[in-house]
Amino acid sequence: MCGIIAYIGPNSALPRLVDGLRVMEYRGYDSAGVALQHDDGLWVRKDVGRVAALAERVVGGPTTHSGIAHTRWATHGEVTEANAHPHLDGDLRIAVVHNGIIENSTHLRTALEAEGVTLRSQTDTEVLPHLIRKYYKGDPVAAVLEALKQARGTYGMAVLFADHPDQIIAVRNGSPLVIGLGDGESLLASDPQAVVSMTRRVGYLQDRELAVITADGVVVQTLAGNDATLNIETIDSDYALADLEGFEHFMLKEIYEQPRSIRRALRGRLQLEEGNAKLGGLNMDPRDLLGVQRLINLGCGTSYHAGMIGAMAVEALARVPARAEIASEFRYRHPIIQRDALFLAISQSGETADTLGAMGEVITKGGTVMGVVNVVGSTVARISGRGVYVHSGPEIAVASTKAFTSQITALLVCTLMLARTRNLSLSEGQAVASELDSMPEKVREYLENPGPIDQAAQWVAEASYVLFLGRGFSYPVALEGALKLKEIAYIPCEAYPSGEMKHGPIAMLQKNTPVIFVAPRDGQREKAISNLREVQARGARVIAIHTEGDTEIAELADLSIPVPSCQSYASPLLTTLPLQLLAYKSGLLLGRDVDKPRNLAKSVTVE
Ligand code: G6P
Repeated sequence: MCGIIAYIGPNSALPRLVDGLRVMEYRGYDSAGVALQHDDGLWVRKDVGRVAALAERVVGGPTTHSGIAHTRWATHGEVTEANAHPHLDGDLRIAVVHNGIIENSTHLRTALEAEGVTLRSQTDTEVLPHLIRKYYKGDPVAAVLEALKQARGTYGMAVLFADHPDQIIAVRNGSPLVIGLGDGESLLASDPQAVVSMTRRVGYLQDRELAVITADGVVVQTLAGNDATLNIETIDSDYALADLEGFEHFMLKEIYEQPRSIRRALRGRLQLEEGNAKLGGLNMDPRDLLGVQRLINLGCGTSYHAGMIGAMAVEALARVPARAEIASEFRYRHPIIQRDALFLAISQSGETADTLGAMGEVITKGGTVMGVVNVVGSTVARISGRGVYVHSGPEIAVASTKAFTSQITALLVCTLMLARTRNLSLSEGQAVASELDSMPEKVREYLENPGPIDQAAQWVAEASYVLFLGRGFSYPVALEGALKLKEIAYIPCEAYPSGEMKHGPIAMLQKNTPVIFVAPRDGQREKAISNLREVQARGARVIAIHTEGDTEIAELADLSIPVPSCQSYASPLLTTLPLQLLAYKSGLLLGRDVDKPRNLAKSVTVE
């Protein structure tokens, strides 16, 4: 989603800002812009579309030493140059880039207009530079603080004053900002990836803090005016700049990285002899685990699907009531929070606004919430304090692949720990631990020989509608497969529990409609075969993802995609793989921008 980068130091700001924008492209955006200190004023350029277009437009731009830049993902107002950030005050001397939403912007806009201010865009952000201007009497910090007293909502923002080109002001409330401290130069970004090529010394601004950033360092205070300190840390090598490593796209690279990323999610955690696992970050001993009487997984999109799988595994193996909830729904339905419930906030980015909102609701009501997060140091990880890192490494393609399988893996490790305190004997625990331990190798085995994905993609790319079906653990996999296909190939599709198919979606089936059956060998297999026949009787084409050696399904299907055999709770780690490849290849056939699909954002930091 929107990205912020700012630079101040002895070098030319412009190329550094453009590089920072490029790094953040993966987050998803639709326009970009930059503001530089220049002569006695500000030099501003914006463009709709790719950063590459902006980069061309700013060739020959001024060589000056401070600036702010932004990639915008439209929320308030269409995708136009006027709506792109930076936004400026009426005198063009104060520039603001902003992530988040100013919720009372309509009211503020009307009030500003009544005072004679002309606004140039449809955005919520534009009220900020005008308000700052209103309160500016020569002291930038005082003006920003006064303006923010009027604004309600979330923000990560950077402000550049033409009168004070030697400083950049940054403020955070609900939208992440990281400050990078180099040698005589400083950076600000909404994403650590954007600073890492210039410095590894970073500090994360906390909510309701304001920073005055200069080339020599940073001074932080709270919005209430108290002093604050920025904890400086050295950023993890995981953030090393992403490289395609010979793959055509990040999505493909990340799909093929899964044997390693799943291994990382398991490393140091499984206890094969004890038939158990250890997740230090949870900080729960067996007695604490035994106290957990219900588990609720919260997440959005792909993370929600991982949560569904995790909840099913917990019920199946630990016999603890468990469910997954869509974070955006959970937060507003006045949920019941019980003392003996454990909530897990699942998020790749750790910055998803809805997931953070759901966590807030749990915390307000006195519940226990922990994070299952990929990005180290992200907001979910910080506010929960306890949790599990999934360690999939930076995921650059917008559509989540390796983070999904790492989330499932981490949740299965949690499940083993919970299950071992109650339902699983030593030998049963050993069997689960060794099954999990074998999964990276099985994933590698499948990816080496992925089956007739090209043919499947051909059928899917030609279709006007695609149906994904699965039962039990395979239903969330079907949901995830359909989500991937929508995200990457923009093909209308949906996922249903196979048994529910005859209650509606069957009406959609025509000759050659591709129906993707996720049907590994498990307790539901016989039922899956009946559903498969029902579909074929309507002339649809069945693409079956099944356990290798299952000749009955292989022969019945129009196209058979075998995956290695495993226990049903682990099967999503394998059955997901062909669906990821299918979405990728269908997207390519249709000429889509697979790493940066339209309208999507990697990290959705607004509601
Ligand atoms: C966005 C992304 C999805 C992702 C979801 C949740 O919608 O496009 O790929 O699954 O957010 O993101 P999170 O970072 O919380 O896992």
